[in-house]
Amino acid sequence: MALFNYTDEEILGKVVAVDTASVILIVNNVDVLRKMQVNRLVALRSSRAGQHLIGMINKIIRKSIDIVDEIENNETPALMTENNSVKITLIGTFFDRLLVNENVFRRTLETVPEIDACCFPIEGERLTTFMRAISFQSGTEVQSLSLGNYTLDEEATAYLDANKFFQKHAVIVGSTGSGKSWTTARLLEQISELPNSNAILFDLHGEYTPLSGDGIKHFKIAGPNDLGTAATIENGILFFPYWLLSYEDMMSMLVDRSDQNAPNQSMVLSRTVIDAKKSFLEAKGETDILTNFTIDSPVPYSLDAVLTEVKRLDSEMVPGARAGTEKQGDFHGKLSRFIARLENKISDKRLAFIMNPPTEVNDMEWLNKLVNLLLSGRDNQDDKKGGVKIIDFSEVPSDILPLVVGRIASLVFSVQQWTEKKDRHPVALLCDEAHLYIPNDGNPSGLTGSSQRYFERIAKEGRKYGVGLVVISQRPSEVNKTILSQCNNFVALRLSNAEDQNVIKRLLPDNLGGFTELLPVLDTGEALVVGDSSLLPSRIRIAEPNNKPNSGTIDFWDEWKNCPKDNVLAKAVKSWRMQSTVE
Ligand SMILES: Nc1ncnc2c1ncn2[C@@H]1O[C@H](COP(=O)(O)OP(=O)(O)OP(=O)(O)O)[C@@H](O)[C@H]1O
Ligand SMILES: [Mg+2]
Repeated sequence: MALFNYTDEEILGKVVAVDTASVILIVNNVDVLRKMQVNRLVALRSSRAGQHLIGMINKIIRKSIDIVDEIENNETPALMTENNSVKITLIGTFFDRLLVNENVFRRTLETVPEIDACCFPIEGERLTTFMRAISFQSGTEVQSLSLGNYTLDEEATAYLDANKFFQKHAVIVGSTGSGKSWTTARLLEQISELPNSNAILFDLHGEYTPLSGDGIKHFKIAGPNDLGTAATIENGILFFPYWLLSYEDMMSMLVDRSDQNAPNQSMVLSRTVIDAKKSFLEAKGETDILTNFTIDSPVPYSLDAVLTEVKRLDSEMVPGARAGTEKQGDFHGKLSRFIARLENKISDKRLAFIMNPPTEVNDMEWLNKLVNLLLSGRDNQDDKKGGVKIIDFSEVPSDILPLVVGRIASLVFSVQQWTEKKDRHPVALLCDEAHLYIPNDGNPSGLTGSSQRYFERIAKEGRKYGVGLVVISQRPSEVNKTILSQCNNFVALRLSNAEDQNVIKRLLPDNLGGFTELLPVLDTGEALVVGDSSLLPSRIRIAEPNNKPNSGTIDFWDEWKNCPKDNVLAKAVKSWRMQSTVE
């Protein structure tokens, strides 16, 4: 039976004005008007049989008309005392039957309602049936992604088209404590249940440690405490050797661009690094690679060899014009500051995971291991575990955080790019606290600049290579605009700041802009979900994840009532000194 078989008593009102994607109704009955609510769904009779247009109430206006005028004109005042209008945004078409399927909803508007078309409410039983019809179109429960239930109808599960969600990039935004990390955990749990899932989460605060299960694996970027221990990639400790840095990144780290010798220094850097890579490849007998590698190829080399060579050039004397005399070499004395910087970085304990990794890391095979762990789907992992990889960055110094995150993202992208199309296994990158490493900086320089470029590239071209981004941030206004504008799916939790709300508003289609007025009044864990992946722009109550992230809000008052704990501060100070959490 057709879902929208309304009787005339149920009419809300009639259409008086039609625009491309919105209509205005006149509602004569004040009681009906009172019951109407913004953001509720309505059905409008279409000019085609078996179709209804679905709309969302956008604005309700009650307006009285000057009665005196009307009476003088001898019209019936009872009906004309009000001119109540309701603005409705059209969001799609509902077909009683489309080919072989019954009750199908599409986001298209092939027709618009005619003037005087009747409008009916979708509520109660009908709402539930309508929501179910929508849910089941997006697939059955096992195949689809579900973040939670609709606020409009708590009985109906809201399903998202998971393919579109990751293909066309997504953003999860919301003020602090609005529920982003929980939403992310919920998302990860569902990803991890798929037999060959493949996703990487950048966890900046070590919040996601409690997430567990066969589909989830944890990694940590090595901190100062992991040096000289048995920390290996097999134990989940990741080093990030200098030879994985691009030439640009090395320059940003080691060359001061305002130094008058900067051009000499960068030239020497490039030459010595290429030579050092060459020696490494020769020693390993890698003849294939030897003929084709570039300075940016991920080939290990000896940093000591580079330092020795640079020092030699800095003090080099060459034969002078006259026999028996000597003069200073081309680079004599011009590299001293560069050497100081390089030595400084090598001895900086905070950077040891880059500049001083254990010997096993500086081996060709190590990169294969790393790529296998990070980029294999769950089924391709040796232990058949861990399609979802959570990388803990909590011990990475904040000044080089953008460099490390950006470089790992670009490593993922490069490997996908160099994988043959038919063999590519899609991977999603979930970027928590994205404003920290992909900031909205119009004129980026140095380390943040290269991170931005890597992510912009992924946002623009990732779809073709099977790399999906999920950008998670408290401050959409502080996240790189180019990247946000490439995201086609929005999960917007409560946002109280007007600037942040505007960013989201601008990214939504025009006729849905009004929807964003809900942003500041959403409950914790409630989200507006809009975009390619969701059939209806909807308000969803996100279900709790099974394992909650460690982001729990601290109850000040209750804690202040409790007994003191011993030694905690001394331990904190020690951890601070060691730059690593003391157990
Ligand atoms: N779906 C939910 N249902 C019920 N409560 C929730 C939900 N999501 C979050 N909360 C509550 O809100 C708290 C904060 O959530 P969460 O850590 O996800 O916020 P956040 O947006 O990630 O904040 P921050 O930006 O500071 O990281 C949780 O500890 C939990 O108590
Ligand atoms: Mg969080």
